[in-house]
Amino acid sequence: MKKQIRVGVIGCGAISGAYLGMAKNFPMVEIVACNDLDMDKARAKAAEFGVPKVLNIDQMMASSEIDLILNLTIPKAHVATALRAIENGKHTYSEKPLGVDRAEGLKLLEAAKKKNVLVGCAPDTFMGAGIQTARKLLDDGIIGRPVAFTALMMCPGHESWHPSPEFYYQVGGGPMFDMGPYYLTALLNLLGPVKRLSGMASVAIPQRTITSKDKFGQTIVVQTPDHICGMLEFQNGAVGNIITSFATRFPTYDGRQPITIYGTQGTMRVPDPNDFDGPVHYRRKDDADWIEAQPEFVKGYGRSIGVADMAYAMQSGRAHRADGQQAYAVLDLMQGFLDSSESGRSYEPKAAYERPAPMPAGLPFGVLDF
Ligand SMILES: NC(=O)c1ccc[n+]([C@@H]2O[C@H](COP(=O)([O-])OP(=O)(O)OC[C@H]3O[C@@H](n4cnc5c(N)ncnc54)[C@H](O)[C@@H]3O)[C@@H](O)[C@H]2O)c1
Repeated sequence: MKKQIRVGVIGCGAISGAYLGMAKNFPMVEIVACNDLDMDKARAKAAEFGVPKVLNIDQMMASSEIDLILNLTIPKAHVATALRAIENGKHTYSEKPLGVDRAEGLKLLEAAKKKNVLVGCAPDTFMGAGIQTARKLLDDGIIGRPVAFTALMMCPGHESWHPSPEFYYQVGGGPMFDMGPYYLTALLNLLGPVKRLSGMASVAIPQRTITSKDKFGQTIVVQTPDHICGMLEFQNGAVGNIITSFATRFPTYDGRQPITIYGTQGTMRVPDPNDFDGPVHYRRKDDADWIEAQPEFVKGYGRSIGVADMAYAMQSGRAHRADGQQAYAVLDLMQGFLDSSESGRSYEPKAAYERPAPMPAGLPFGVLDF
């Protein structure tokens, strides 16, 4: 049995349960400690998921029994938290976005390189059966050469359900930095690197009222665009649109398949990139109707498969998929849309991007030993 990768979790809020639950499926990952600014939250999650230790931040950083920090803090704390972990010789895997701007992201990657540790970053949803199946079919040429696409993420915002939704309206939040990582990571995996982009962004609803329980009635002043429309030209020639919005209601697109890719020989409906296993449909020019594709990869995964893939990579020396460079390329695009909106000019991404290897089919659930 190879050595397990020992993980300390920093940030035990809304999303942490998804990680702590799913991580139990991966023998290579051992969650050993929890931390949060609010130590009651850390204690509660540790108790709920049987995590043996609750450590304060200094203990967490100093511990020689932790190899990797799983950073589930809010966006503006991602880089500071990860940098401190790196300084202490630990690998890091952060929730998205990698940082609130390019400068932060770059600082993180450079620090990790210097310390010879790995950086991972959400999302890992692209490793699920949905996007992997779409990628395989596109690579096989099922719809010919991709020409166009639409990618839509339109909703009224998160203040109706999230217990602490303020961060969604601060710099590093907004629908592009919050949801864009799912869509852009999926598009990069499907279509490859981007050649050029342009964007238009607005603050459509400048003040919000929280209607979730704990902070009901409190107001939020929106500090970053809540509606962003982008246009992307990929190096493979495909040109399309992405709309991310926290200022719209009742979208008419099918939320299960919010990305459509149009090719020279047909069209593909791509599942929600915020989920792992949604259905892929395609229709070629002579098909009488849409065809549902057979999934190409194991179903049932959830958040933390990116950490598990990283744990296996640390053992074998192979590359991991949800890596810092991919997240930095996504950050470059996201900031590019906002910059382009301000400057009125298109932007050519600077961050290098290479698609990670596809997930191999046929392995048992929980095993990523390749
Ligand atoms: N909530 C979701 O559905 C969801 C889904 C996917 C990804 N995410 C991402 O996960 C991250 C966290 O989101 P969330 O919804 O869990 O937020 P949250 O506010 O519920 O939880 C964040 C937690 O981090 C803690 N924290 C903040 N700064 C810290 C610091 N410096 N040190 C230690 N703890 C700190 C907070 O006290 C809080 O408990 C965000 O980046 C978000 O984009 C959230």
